[in-house]
Parts: sequence; C-alpha cells; structure tokens
Amino acid sequence: MSAAPVKRVTVPALRAMKSQQRIGVLTAYDFPSAKIADAAGTDVILVGDSLGMVVLGYPDTLSVTVEDMLHHTRAVARGVTRALVVGDMPYLSYHVSIEESVRNAGRFIQAGAQAVKVEGGKPSRIRTIEAILDAEVPVMGHIGLTPQSVNAIGGFKLQGKNAEDARRLIEEAEALDRAGCFALVLECVPAELAAFITGRISIPTIGIGAGPRCDGQVLVLHDLLGLYQGTSPKFVRKYADLGAEMQSALEHYLRDVREGTFPTEAESFHGTSEEELKRLYGSCDSEGIVVEIQAKS
Ligand code: KIV
Repeated sequence: MSAAPVKRVTVPALRAMKSQQRIGVLTAYDFPSAKIADAAGTDVILVGDSLGMVVLGYPDTLSVTVEDMLHHTRAVARGVTRALVVGDMPYLSYHVSIEESVRNAGRFIQAGAQAVKVEGGKPSRIRTIEAILDAEVPVMGHIGLTPQSVNAIGGFKLQGKNAEDARRLIEEAEALDRAGCFALVLECVPAELAAFITGRISIPTIGIGAGPRCDGQVLVLHDLLGLYQGTSPKFVRKYADLGAEMQSALEHYLRDVREGTFPTEAESFHGTSEEELKRLYGSCDSEGIVVEIQAKS
C-alpha cells in the first residue's frame, strides 16, 4: 500500500492561515536542504536572493542573476513535496520594463516555483506587481529593509523609525495588499510598526527582524544553522553550529587519510578473485596483493 499523498501548501491555503496559525518560512537554495526543510514541516520555502551572500560569497545580493536564481529554484523544487516554493526575483529582473518583469516572473514558475517575491511598494512597483499577477503568477511582497536597495538606503539598517518613514511603509503595505499580493515580508522594522501593519492588512505578514507579532517568521537557513561565517544581525537566532561541526568532521577525515586509517578493509571492495588478478597481473601473494606487476596482453 502506498503512503497517502502529501497535501501541498497552496497560495490560497497560505493566505487563509492569517490569524489561524503562525506561518513558518525558511530559505533554501539546493536539493538536500530543501528536502530537509520540507520534511521539517516548513510552510514556505523561499529561494531567496540571499543565496548571493550565503552560498555564492558576494557582499550583498546585487550580483545575483535570474539564471543563478532559476538554477537554484529548479534544485529546490525537485526536493519539495509539501511546502509552497517562492522564487525571489533578483535585482534588475523587474526594474527595466513591465514586459521583461512578467517574462522573468513566468520563468520562475516554469522552473518549479509556485510564486515569486518582489521587493518594494512604491507606485511604479505596484504597477509591475499588478502585471505579474495578471499573468497568473502569485506575488509575495517585501518592504522595510529591502536588500536590493542597499545603496539607495545607505546600508543594512532598521527602517520605519520615524513617523514619516513608518507612514510610508504602512501605505506601501496597504497598496501591496490591494494589488493582490498573497503575503508580505516585513524586514528589519520596529516590532510595533510590524504589529500595526499586521493588524491593518488582509494578507499574512512574514517578519524577519520585525518582532513577534507578525503572522509568520522567516530566517535565512545558513544563519539559523550556523553555516554563515559573516556577522549575523541581532534578530538571528542560531539553532545549531553546523559550520563548526562540519569543520571538525572534515578535520577528522583529513587526519584519517593522512594517518592511513581511512579507508579500512571493510570500506574497500574485494570483488576480484586471486585467479582473475593473476590473469591480469601475472602473480599474486596469498592475500591477493600483486607481487609482480606485469599486465598480460
Ligand atoms: O533573500 C532572502 O532570503 C529574503 C528573506 C530574508 C526574506 O529576502
């Protein structure tokens, strides 16, 4: 008897979670980590452009291309059976023209994502998002600290600190809700502002550095597992130190290789009979070790 099919998290199902249950979101960038995150029960896997920093080694997300993102989205999609897969549209993939933005968004769906994420909420961005939605691609919004705007905002800093900025973020959140986004990431904003926005809009808010009163939370996988060697912001909780564990395992392996304790006999194959070895090399001792290397023609 085969196991019952897993019920997939869909865009409408995620939307309906608002005020019903807290939403857990993780990033993932490859097949094995997506498989593990899915088995752990994450509701959403975001193939974030944070991959530029935590996987590809760039200082920010601006160098990540659509091709990079699609390559990783395909790998993630192959590992997921339950979670909603959201592909993060990278810098310049939705900034040049509406037509190009829609085409790029569609490529994420063809790569196996069920939705895309787009940063920003100004009026021109809302028009782009409406066009993407019109092409049947669900959109997750993202406001507050939007890393693709790092040069314009002058660094990775808390947003919405003064009344004017906070009011702008509230207006953007409402505009993204009205446009038809199915969820909204709030990154690095005061907890009170995130709580206010969460109460004000109809779609789930997913916080990162936005306090506990969002409808869900997202963390970058490499931050929470201790796999990212750079400095992590204060909102990151490290649930494991896999970087240190990985290094110690690798040091152990290299020690074994150098000391000759890896591989053992049990870790080696012994399929060739003495007779076959003799046919190949000429002669063998009783343990099958070649004593006279002389390949027969
Ligand atoms: O790229 C990313 O991982 C993100 C999340 C931090 C929200 O945008």
